[in-house]
Amino acid sequence: MISSLSESVTLPSGLVLPNRLVKAALAENMAAKDHQPGPKFEKAYSEWAAGGWGGILTGNIMVDDRFCGSPGDLIIDKNPPLEKWKAYAAAIKSKGVPAIAQINHPGRQAPIMSGGTRSFFDKAIAPSAIPLNIGDNLIAKAARVLVFGTPREMSSEDIQITIRQFADASRFLAEAGFDGIELHGAHGYLIAQFLSPKSNHRNDAYGGSVEKRAKFAVETLQAIRRAVPKGFTVGMKLNSADASQAGSLEETLTQIRLITEVGIDFLEISGGSYENPQMMQTSAVPRKSARSSAREAFFLDFARAVRARFPKLILMVTGGFRSRKGMEAAVEEGACDIIGLGRPSVVNPHWPKEILLNQTVPDQDAQVSLAPAPLPWLLSIIPISVLGAGAETEYYATQIGRIARGLLSFAPGVPHAS
Ligand SMILES: Cc1cc2nc3c(=O)[nH]c(=O)nc-3n(C[C@H](O)[C@H](O)[C@H](O)COP(=O)(O)O)c2cc1C
Repeated sequence: MISSLSESVTLPSGLVLPNRLVKAALAENMAAKDHQPGPKFEKAYSEWAAGGWGGILTGNIMVDDRFCGSPGDLIIDKNPPLEKWKAYAAAIKSKGVPAIAQINHPGRQAPIMSGGTRSFFDKAIAPSAIPLNIGDNLIAKAARVLVFGTPREMSSEDIQITIRQFADASRFLAEAGFDGIELHGAHGYLIAQFLSPKSNHRNDAYGGSVEKRAKFAVETLQAIRRAVPKGFTVGMKLNSADASQAGSLEETLTQIRLITEVGIDFLEISGGSYENPQMMQTSAVPRKSARSSAREAFFLDFARAVRARFPKLILMVTGGFRSRKGMEAAVEEGACDIIGLGRPSVVNPHWPKEILLNQTVPDQDAQVSLAPAPLPWLLSIIPISVLGAGAETEYYATQIGRIARGLLSFAPGVPHAS
């Protein structure tokens, strides 16, 4: 039987994804000191390009050369080298798969010394001068001060500069040959910081009410739309309405309404932040019926609520999908249109072509179980929850580095010869 995952999806921009399986954004942590793409990126992404994906998202690309999420991030800010970016886009699109670049600003989640031109003494910027809370114990508090510090509240000028940086980066990516961008509004980064009442205590036009907290995201999307050509895809990644986001479901749906009124081509749903890294959970594959299979995904309940309110919005859900049955169940019940796959796409960059969309592979073999990435002993005794997520990210980023060197990547917990 032909899988529902093999059906194409046409976005409002006109971009056609040949199937429902999209490689999610994964920070590669592979850039050299110039923070520009090069052969390693081209090699890793040409593996994904050959994997039979419906679309490929890049890892997050920073738009402000002062602030990075991690030292190996790519940056598009002042005079980026167009030829290198054209080669990067061409590698992703070498087998005709749409290429979407994710753009991001870390806000208060920019660790000191994480790269960029920011000096050791410069503060990160954020909607309000509220530091991250990575734990209430003394070690967590000390780590927070040393690693992140307290951010500086953004001035109106900072806000306008940052909006322009997002728009300029999008225009540049269109020129480089990407099919679209995804604005990273999830995982506690700058846009999510504006959306949330926990990190946005402003009393000006950009804070103070649910609607005003959405204004930064709305104006950024409007500026991006003005900057890019017609037909260029503009999507957004947002957190589900959970403890780490805006609070109530209704408030989050209000913000989504304001965002969709600008006109987005797809909405990706995820969840979590450095304070509460839900997106980096591990999930087991349920062994029961197809319906219960969809339970492997982390954020489907929220997707169903968004679907009920915005039936025409193209929805992508990322986090926890591990089996063909689970993915089919989510698409067939209408909870989402697109399945985002993060860690599994690293374990096998060709998973769609070789397994998920391959009719000769039975369902019981079209699944993967991933153990949590190993945490070094010393880190495992430090009571800071983000360390587990950090180790998980580090583990998979190392595996992406292996793919870039033409080597196999390995799933945690699965024995292998190195
Ligand atoms: C190494 C690594 C890097 C990641 N980098 C990003 C990123 O740059 N942008 C983003 O939106 N999510 C990022 N994520 C989160 C993934 O996109 C995804 O939401 C998460 O891994 C859950 O999906 P999964 O269960 O399929 O892995 C990253 C995850 C990993 C493991």
